Amino acid sequence: METFAPPNQKRDVSSEWLQVLVESALDGIITMDCKGRIIAFNPAAEKIFGYRSAQVIGCMVSEKLIPGSLQKAHESGLARFLATGKKEIIGRRVEVTAMRVDQSVFDAELSVIPVDSKTGPVFIAFLRDISGQKLAEQEREQHAINIKKTLMQAILAVSRIIEIRDPYTAGHQRRVAHLAAAMAKALKFPEERIDGVYLGALIHDIGKIAVPSEILARPGKLLDEDINYLKIHCQKGYEILEPVNFPWPVAEIALQHHEHIDGSGYPHGLQDGEILLESRIICVADVVESLTAHRPYRPAYTLEKSLKFISKRAGKCYDRQIVAACIALFKKGYSIDAIDMDELTWLSSLS
Ligand SMILES: [Fe+2]
Repeated sequence: METFAPPNQKRDVSSEWLQVLVESALDGIITMDCKGRIIAFNPAAEKIFGYRSAQVIGCMVSEKLIPGSLQKAHESGLARFLATGKKEIIGRRVEVTAMRVDQSVFDAELSVIPVDSKTGPVFIAFLRDISGQKLAEQEREQHAINIKKTLMQAILAVSRIIEIRDPYTAGHQRRVAHLAAAMAKALKFPEERIDGVYLGALIHDIGKIAVPSEILARPGKLLDEDINYLKIHCQKGYEILEPVNFPWPVAEIALQHHEHIDGSGYPHGLQDGEILLESRIICVADVVESLTAHRPYRPAYTLEKSLKFISKRAGKCYDRQIVAACIALFKKGYSIDAIDMDELTWLSSLS
């Protein structure tokens, strides 16, 4: 390693300590003159870059340590600092891409300080190889994505189980989930919350598992007592989902998805702000999807008739703003029929 003190100059104790400090540092310490030439290269820098100091002393930093595509930016940055004194990276910790002796590139953390010397300013760079840390971060992120993907696929599986028992509404929850997430997006929900709307809608009818299959599969119009029985699915859904520690209010979504803002819904007759926004959105998506689907006791409504249905009840049963967002979505060309049922396309974190 090259010394920082000029040869033949009598060393004092502090300069020897400085020398020890530089030689034993775990970070690469590289000194560069104002022309961009390397004038000192400590042992840690040798280890990080794979060069012996004698191989780089006197060479340009840009040629030896910086990938070709970034050399110009480095040279112009240095020229700008010398001309204007403007500190773009100096005195800050920045992440950069550096290049080893074998031309391989790696992520590094860099901080640079300028020091005045008799021959002009020199720059001391402290550099740490963070490629291992970056790789671990990427692996952690990928792992989190995989876990979330698996969670979503498991929820989809649960969603299909419910639909197997309820043949008249096959695919209903997935179509509602897609439409509700599109509405949440139009209402400018943050991405994480849109995922919650999607997931909550996918299993909003999970409580139907507690409803006898002869009621779910009964052809023709449901009897009043069947309807009363069917209404328990909100509470049952809540009981099934409540113990699961979702990062979204999934259990409350299932509980409240038949509540109306004027208090006419069920199971608790909640009003306005008492009802989660997510549930108010899913409620509207649920109605539109159900009306546009064929039922044994009535033909499918046209889209126009379905939108008229929710429009007439906006501000009474349904949130006015949510109804407006839903109608605007269809006017822009949204189509329930065009949904790809096997794609988890709405998950912001997976896209
Ligand atoms: Fe429902």
